[in-house]
Amino acid sequence: MSKFWSPFVKDLVPYVPGEQPKLTKLVKLNTNENPYGPSPKALAAMQTELNDNLRLYPDPNSDLLKTAVAQYYGVQSNQVFLGNGSDEVLAHIFHGLLQHDKPLLFPDISYSFYPVYCGLYGIEFDAVPLDAQFQIDPADYAKPNGGIIFPNPNAPTGCLLALDAVEQILKASPDSVVVVDEAYIDFGGETAISLVDRYPNLLVTQTLSKSRSLAGLRVGLAVGHPDLIEALERIKNSFNSYPLDRLAIVGAAAAFEDREHFGKTCRLVIESREWVIAQLQAKGFEVLPSAANFIFARHPQHDAAGLAAKLREQGVIVRHFKQERIAQFLRISIGTPEQNQALIDGLGDL
Ligand SMILES: Cc1ncc(COP(=O)(O)O)c(C=O)c1O
Repeated sequence: MSKFWSPFVKDLVPYVPGEQPKLTKLVKLNTNENPYGPSPKALAAMQTELNDNLRLYPDPNSDLLKTAVAQYYGVQSNQVFLGNGSDEVLAHIFHGLLQHDKPLLFPDISYSFYPVYCGLYGIEFDAVPLDAQFQIDPADYAKPNGGIIFPNPNAPTGCLLALDAVEQILKASPDSVVVVDEAYIDFGGETAISLVDRYPNLLVTQTLSKSRSLAGLRVGLAVGHPDLIEALERIKNSFNSYPLDRLAIVGAAAAFEDREHFGKTCRLVIESREWVIAQLQAKGFEVLPSAANFIFARHPQHDAAGLAAKLREQGVIVRHFKQERIAQFLRISIGTPEQNQALIDGLGDL
């Protein structure tokens, strides 16, 4: 702390991202990255863009990418908002759409950045407990609120909420913005983007960090009613006019166009997920049903922190959260078949 800080800074509780180790030989199953590379067409588009034009600012509206996203989802360009990773998109959403008199609702076990944004923007929140099976119950959200946000599939549980249940939440709170954070939707869920034309209070966010394997490029998006998008554009244009650089715009647009690479890599991750689940269950783990590129599992006889430490000694890193209710769970990202085998071998004979 220093006398130079603006007063509110001393009370901020920042988000702690998963470790990005400097040791490259570790089997990294801790931050839900995609084990397969991005679309070769996206890489080629970025290579072509590496030229003298980098002296010029990028298109502040990223129109090329907005059009690619709008076409992909069958919406209009003015229903699409883009940002530097979905974290930035979410930050603008909290700031521009979720700061109201009543508390924001989100699950007690959910993306741990949500309470951080509440702290940053002074938003009151009410953490709604997941049920005993770690599922979201739509009925729990039918109460006065200043907005609702939840990941679907949820993180870190991986559990999917069916589209009709999402609709139930939307119908019960027509006067609040309901944000569905679909960072992991492509690994087994159905996007709620199909509902945006019927629900002006729905905003869906997605990222290119997971299913399109571009975490290092930092591109995220939101789709919703043009009035919601306009609020986000106002915030963005009061904060940073150029959140996406020239490489990100062309790379992300090409990634959306390469449906073949996308479909193939998603299928491989899903197949591996089912293999990992079967292997863990054979070792006595309880694994929550997952529609994501990670699984959430606990062993009835073994302490989760101890297991994480043991795996680390074997060169495999997974994520453990020191949070009540989930302290005995490990969140394990799905890797290549070789990485998944290293995980199973690293656990040894329990
Ligand atoms: C639920 C959820 N939402 C959003 C994000 C942010 O993703 P990014 O900023 O890479 O788009 C993550 C990242 O892990 C996530 O788990």
